[in-house]
Amino acid sequence: MIRLGILVSGSGSNLQAIMDSCVCGDIDGMVAVVISNVEEAYALKRAENYDIPTKVISHEHYPDRVNFDMQLVKTLKEFDVGLVVLAGFMRILTPEFLKHFPGRIMNIHPALLPSFPGLEVRQKAIDHGVKLSGCSVHFVDDGVDTGPIIIQAAVPVYPDDSKEELKDRILALEHKIYPRAIQLFAQGRLDIVERKVFIRDQVKEKTAYMVNPPLED
Ligand code: GRF
Repeated sequence: MIRLGILVSGSGSNLQAIMDSCVCGDIDGMVAVVISNVEEAYALKRAENYDIPTKVISHEHYPDRVNFDMQLVKTLKEFDVGLVVLAGFMRILTPEFLKHFPGRIMNIHPALLPSFPGLEVRQKAIDHGVKLSGCSVHFVDDGVDTGPIIIQAAVPVYPDDSKEELKDRILALEHKIYPRAIQLFAQGRLDIVERKVFIRDQVKEKTAYMVNPPLED
């Protein structure tokens, strides 16, 4: 059973979906520890409600990023974590962190990568006028939102969307694809070959598509 270490900074709705998936058996794993760099993060409350150990490690208390990251590594290793899950964690990890968990760090991003990496991406998608956006779960490498993509899901975008509307539409899908990506990892079905993630025993959906606006009224 895989032991998850979840890093958060905010609301923790993805954490909630992951904890629920562990409880109901959709993920063959358990959340071993939740670490926040923000003391007031609501995600901590969510974890406490499930009796999951929490730690606050504030980046402000460390002289530099490497020292902060080494404290994260130490704590994750204390809890014997097998997969590090970034769930709204608003810090960029250093290469020193990455080398402790090679191929074992995931992130979720609220856009269809490689489009719109970085911050404020729902507004950027609306402003660009795209008709589809969505979310991506990817392995973390030393770039910003650049690592091998595991799973993506698409939603329609409308020109008069507010960023809150688009955020909610995407978030609902995030809560489905993040547990799925973690379960695929837990089952040992993900193989990373250069930029590509191969999923063992995956059925090819030959006719699946999504069009916005629809082809017919
Ligand atoms: C999500 O939109 C996720 O894609 C991004 O940060 C947000 C976290 O939301 N990386 P929550 O804290 O899980 O509610």
